[in-house]
Amino acid sequence: MAKMKRIGLLTSGGDAPGMNACIRAIVRTAAYEGIELYGIRDGYNGLLADDMDLLGKRDVSDIIQRGGTILKTARSVEFGTLEGKQKAAKILEKRGITGLIVIGGDGSMRGASTLTQEFGIATIGVPGTIDNDLSYTDFTLGFDTAVNTVIDAVNKLRDTMGSHSRCNIIEVMGRRCGDIALHAGIGCGAEIIVVPENQMSLDEICEKLEFNVKSGKKSSIIMLAEGCGKAEDYIQKIKSKIEISIRSTTLGHIQRGGAPTNSDRILASKFGYRAVQLLKEGAINRAVGIRDNKIIDMDIIEAVNMPRKFDEELYKIAQVLSI
Ligand code: F6P
Repeated sequence: MAKMKRIGLLTSGGDAPGMNACIRAIVRTAAYEGIELYGIRDGYNGLLADDMDLLGKRDVSDIIQRGGTILKTARSVEFGTLEGKQKAAKILEKRGITGLIVIGGDGSMRGASTLTQEFGIATIGVPGTIDNDLSYTDFTLGFDTAVNTVIDAVNKLRDTMGSHSRCNIIEVMGRRCGDIALHAGIGCGAEIIVVPENQMSLDEICEKLEFNVKSGKKSSIIMLAEGCGKAEDYIQKIKSKIEISIRSTTLGHIQRGGAPTNSDRILASKFGYRAVQLLKEGAINRAVGIRDNKIIDMDIIEAVNMPRKFDEELYKIAQVLSI
């Protein structure tokens, strides 16, 4: 097995808090192992533009606490094509880069996997997305921070909503995945949680709101996953059915920013360390993750093809505790 001498690193897809902490871990582990590391800008777009520079251990000082990604990120259309991947592989080959680490979501990982299968580049995927929508890992980088951002916002909303005996429907990110809504919902004691995996009907939402008022709860928080619709639309529909004082809040990209929580920093450090170790050991096409508090790795395609799981037990607990 030839020694891994030079690797590339990029961040791809939506940014997530903890990506910088992971970049730091990867750069420092590579430096420790005597492996040259190229930081590629703007995700796969930067790879296609051959936009990269060597990163040394001092280049990643003072970033562990910063949200976003110093490498910047993009969702690349050109890399989505086979020609794009061919071009990317040629650029890596020309530079003598034989291993690539990609921090991103499932689309980014699938792209990395094609580079391995079609063009023989060793690739390692690190799950970086606030959505927590990759089933093979219990947590993705940035999820914990995003959940804490939502909770912080709801703490503030509770003050004003409670003072006015009002309800608030708060729309959170997560595309087709309700994990941010579910976990933040539990954490802030939301009265109603609406997720795509177990979508409540409008009638059920209205019944619960009326029940809450009758049982003495004058102010309810409805946590709505974006995959179930827009908070503003729900307001109109709810008002057409019941008489209630209700407002909506859409948190949007606030959820993607901010300093990572310490859980995300630790996860980032462990993921980054393992990703470099895997390349050093000669692994190809592996996705790192965490299961039952242990760092794991598995075939990228197997990982991204795992069917979505939803934490029914947590959902049930949220229902029981919000009576
Ligand atoms: O995948 C992360 C995510 O933040 C989703 O939760 C959200 O639906 C989407 O990205 C927003 O994408 P954009 O950055 O293109 O607005």
